[in-house]
Amino acid sequence: MKAHVRSNWQQAVLVCRKCSKKLDGGFGPDGDERLAKALRKHLALKKGRKAAAGIVEVNCLGVCPKGAVTVVNGAQATDWLLVRRGADLDELAETLGLLQGQSGIS
Ligand code: FES
Repeated sequence: MKAHVRSNWQQAVLVCRKCSKKLDGGFGPDGDERLAKALRKHLALKKGRKAAAGIVEVNCLGVCPKGAVTVVNGAQATDWLLVRRGADLDELAETLGLLQGQSGIS
């Protein structure tokens, strides 16, 4: 068995699953998508470790903001984001450093 596997991720972003569930959508063109999915779609990221970046839903991060989703940028883990419903995904992607190159990072 291999001790490690390669991935194309240049970046890992953790999105609270429980916050996303509480908002029941809130993102994407129609405002009915969860943040992680909307962001992946917005950046046209491939699936799994073949993607240029990992946007992963994780368990409650213990912040539990009202009307927002807690997001951790793996490259800047000391500063967590509270992303409000309907937030601009271009702006968010830029803040997270996900816009270097097109079709999500390169
Ligand atoms: S519910 Fe998202 S941080 Fe707790």
